[in-house]
Amino acid sequence: MNVVLWIHLLAVAVWTGGLITLAALVPAIRKAGADIEVIRAAARQFGRLSWTAMGLAVVTGLMLANDFGYSLSGSAIGTKVRVVGAMIALAGFHQFTAKKTPPAIRGAIQGVVLVLAVLTFWLAATI
Ligand code: HEM
Repeated sequence: MNVVLWIHLLAVAVWTGGLITLAALVPAIRKAGADIEVIRAAARQFGRLSWTAMGLAVVTGLMLANDFGYSLSGSAIGTKVRVVGAMIALAGFHQFTAKKTPPAIRGAIQGVVLVLAVLTFWLAATI
């Protein structure tokens, strides 16, 4: 039993599952007339959880690469690390600009982050 891989898989499940859940929930609570401050509080709490999960995913992912002797450049794992980097950059951009961007743009950015997360799963399965 590899505990580091177990934590890695839990963390990436929290990150990706959270994005999918949020994508389904936010339009529904907006439609139900939820106050913007309620939506913001939920987003802040979601951010704490998902960034903690992503931090764990990166640390455990690097530990796994080291344990299994994978090189981070020029291989499937190198591509995965670049996609993860792009996903983190975009999610971070979203976090800092969300207050000023209209809901449709926010949703589109989160949609791209979700596509990158799903792509990362596909790349992980090809390592
Ligand atoms: C810097 C970030 C990351 C690194 C260095 C990394 C590295 C790794 C390594 C070395 C493995 C083990 C592969 C094996 O069993 O041979 C792994 C497994 C996996 N990773 Fe990551 N990972 C990172 C982030 C992520 C993220 C963000 C996701 C998803 C959103 C993800 C999804 C997975 C999945 C689904 C597996 C299981 C695949 C398998 O064992 O066959 N990883 N990762």
